Amino acid sequence: LGQVLFFLVLSLCSVLGRVSYSIPEEMPKGSLVGDVVKDFGVDIKRLKSGKARIFSRDSDEYVELHKERGVLLIKNRIDRETLCGQLTPCVLLFQIILENPMEFYSVTVEITDINDNPPSFEKSDVNFKISESAVRGAKFILDRAFDLDVGINALHTYTLEPNDNFVVRLHDQADGSKNVEMILEKPLDREKQEHLSLVLTALDGGEPQMTGTMQILITVLDANDNAPVFTEPVYKSSIVENVPIGTVVTSVTATDADQGSNGRITYSISSITENGRGVFEVNAQSGEIVLRGNVDYEKSQSFQMHIRASDDGGLGDSCKVIIDVSDLNDNKPNIQIISKSNVIPEDAKLGTVVTMINVEDADSGDNGKVQCSINKNIPFEMKSSSGEFYSVTTDNELDREITPEYNITVTCYDEGIPSLSSSVTLTLQVSDVNDNAPVFERSSYEAYVVENNSPGLSIFTVKATDADWNQNARVFYMLEDSSVNGVPVSSYVSISADSGVIHAVRSFDYEQIKDFKFRIKAQDGGSPPLSSNVSVKVQIQDQNDNPPQVLYPVHTGGSLVAEMVPRSADVGYLVTKVVAVDVDSGQNAWLSYKLQKATDRALFEVGLQNGEIRTIRQVTDKDAVKQRLTVIVEDNGQPSRSATVIVNVAVADSFPEVLSEFTEFPHDKEYNENLTFYLVLALAVVSFLFITCLVVIISVKIYRWRQSRILYHSSLPVIPYYPPRYSDTLGTGTLPHVYNYDMSRTTDSRKSDSKFCRDASENVLIMDPCSMGTIQRIQSEKSILDEPDSPLEVRCLSTKERWTTREENRDGAWFSCKNELTKRTPHVLKDIWTAHSVEFLKEICLSEI
Ligand SMILES: *[C@@H]1O[C@H](CO)[C@@H](O)[C@H](O)[C@H]1NC(C)=O
Ligand SMILES: *[C@@H]1O[C@H](CO)[C@@H](O)[C@H](O)[C@H]1NC(C)=O
Repeated sequence: LGQVLFFLVLSLCSVLGRVSYSIPEEMPKGSLVGDVVKDFGVDIKRLKSGKARIFSRDSDEYVELHKERGVLLIKNRIDRETLCGQLTPCVLLFQIILENPMEFYSVTVEITDINDNPPSFEKSDVNFKISESAVRGAKFILDRAFDLDVGINALHTYTLEPNDNFVVRLHDQADGSKNVEMILEKPLDREKQEHLSLVLTALDGGEPQMTGTMQILITVLDANDNAPVFTEPVYKSSIVENVPIGTVVTSVTATDADQGSNGRITYSISSITENGRGVFEVNAQSGEIVLRGNVDYEKSQSFQMHIRASDDGGLGDSCKVIIDVSDLNDNKPNIQIISKSNVIPEDAKLGTVVTMINVEDADSGDNGKVQCSINKNIPFEMKSSSGEFYSVTTDNELDREITPEYNITVTCYDEGIPSLSSSVTLTLQVSDVNDNAPVFERSSYEAYVVENNSPGLSIFTVKATDADWNQNARVFYMLEDSSVNGVPVSSYVSISADSGVIHAVRSFDYEQIKDFKFRIKAQDGGSPPLSSNVSVKVQIQDQNDNPPQVLYPVHTGGSLVAEMVPRSADVGYLVTKVVAVDVDSGQNAWLSYKLQKATDRALFEVGLQNGEIRTIRQVTDKDAVKQRLTVIVEDNGQPSRSATVIVNVAVADSFPEVLSEFTEFPHDKEYNENLTFYLVLALAVVSFLFITCLVVIISVKIYRWRQSRILYHSSLPVIPYYPPRYSDTLGTGTLPHVYNYDMSRTTDSRKSDSKFCRDASENVLIMDPCSMGTIQRIQSEKSILDEPDSPLEVRCLSTKERWTTREENRDGAWFSCKNELTKRTPHVLKDIWTAHSVEFLKEICLSEI
């Protein structure tokens, strides 16, 4: 506005001239701009007088007027860019003013540009982040550079170094400006070069050319452009079977050139052979293949799988893994019993097959080769029939009685290192065969029985044992037929078939038979049965059952024998000798003689051993003719038995003297003693009867008196009552039967028993003869007693006694019955023995009886 105003003022004044100059900028101070004198036609004086000066509103400091010379000079260095910026043309406009008169001269100085400014960027560097996936042609806007110069000196072009991937291009904008663009010519690859450093150079068009640069830093961002790649296409590994779970078998590795999640690889099993399912696991991060199941060579020798490696971007690769399994001796031989017998008879032939076995070992190679054997010291051997089959056979004789049971242990080893083994134990029972006869405990038996034994007495027991088993070992005893003194031995002894107890059948008399021999056979229950026999000698032992018998002097009824002793006989004169024998033997027959009674004890003595009667002093005249000596002969038995003999001795010198003395011999004393006894007995009986009668009469009297008193009180008619017993006793006056019985029993019990029993059965009312107490019992007995063919003695036994006897004699009866059976049916019996039990036979026998 100022200028406009100024020009308005000027236009009011007279403008005398207008001159234009053109100078380059940056001229040094004092440089000539124009010659005013020459160009305006004004002389220097006028300039001086007119006080010429330069008038400029805003730029009077650049140019000054040198009045002396009449030229315009550079006052200060002019920078076009400061003065005009981008404005062109850049013009300094000022007036030279002269006074007196006022004159104006307009001067225009155009300042021309020189290339004094380089292009420049605002920032020295710039950063870019570009994904490697950026495609060709992708544009990136760059900062523009500025150049203060104008025209040709202004910014002219850009270059980019290096230019492998990018080119720089200027792009015209609608407003006429140009954008600097960096265009991707060749895709980036982070994997090759992650950081790029480019230099953008801006060039101007001046001469000399000036440049400005800016650094472009490019960080290439990763893109998932690389797939993982396994280091090997096929991995091979081998493991030993049975390695523990968790073992790392092998590991696969894949690499991915990408970065970050694009390079993060995850491993997985994409496919695996059927046998490997669940056995292996791959560690997703490390690629280690870890065992997760059991590996058994016997099931799988090899595994194959494919492992995939994938990055997070979904790219992947696959590899194959082959894992071979090597065998370990981990399987025991497996023994299988194909057939076996649990029992073998002891007479089995050599080579009998006991067991067949089959052996297998799941391992391979030496680990699977198997050898079998059985334990030693048993009568069996093992044979291999073919490879895996073995048979156990007998190779020696068996004897159940020595070894009833065998444990056969079959042990099988494989040839692995270390070797594995397994074993099986078979228990084999040896069954019994009747191969052992019964054996008596002794080779012969000797038994002793005291004579006068009761029949049925068990003498002793033989025992035979049989080494066999059960029925084969069941021993039966029997007598072998033989005779003793012409009588079958069965009438002497019997034997209990199963206990071996020998019973006497009769009472033995030592004096008749001193010993006898027989044989006993023991037979087992086998089929066929085996037997053995043993001899038994029964010795009968003496009992002192016979008193000594005096042989001399003979004691005949009435005749008297006397030994004569002359009065002149000396001391020690042998009068006679008592001779006695005892049929017993031993001590029982060892006799001693003693003088029991003597008319004159001082005259005779009896030799203790020899029975010799001798005088012990001189016979004198005073000695009686008749001397009576009672000599007792005793045996040495326990208790001892004795016999007495009376020896009459006549001390006389002549026979008539003897006769006269011996005619009147005193009565037999024994007879007197007997008579006295009977008299006393008769007296006692009569007295007893008398007292009894007295007691009965008094009792009856008292009874009647009491009855009459009761009747009197009750005023009932009197009916006299006589118990039959009393009335009979009193009426007939005979003795009651009871006394009969008592009397007779004392003399001969057997006869009186029979007599009495018959009485009892006839007169049942009176009393119970057999102490039974009831009438019924007696009546029931009557039928038994009346059996026509019962012997008298049997009939007289009461029923009770009879049955008791029968039970007691049951065993005895069995012996005799069996002997009877043996006699009657020897051929049948053998079969019966084997077929039936003894109890059964016993029953038959007893029922027959
Ligand atoms: C056989 O083995 C069984 C069981 O181990 C045992 O009871 C028996 O005594 C053994 N027999 C022999 C003869 O060794
Ligand atoms: C008794 O046994 C012997 C062998 O000990 C035998 O020779 C004899 O024949 C047998 N006797 C009878 C009657 O069986």
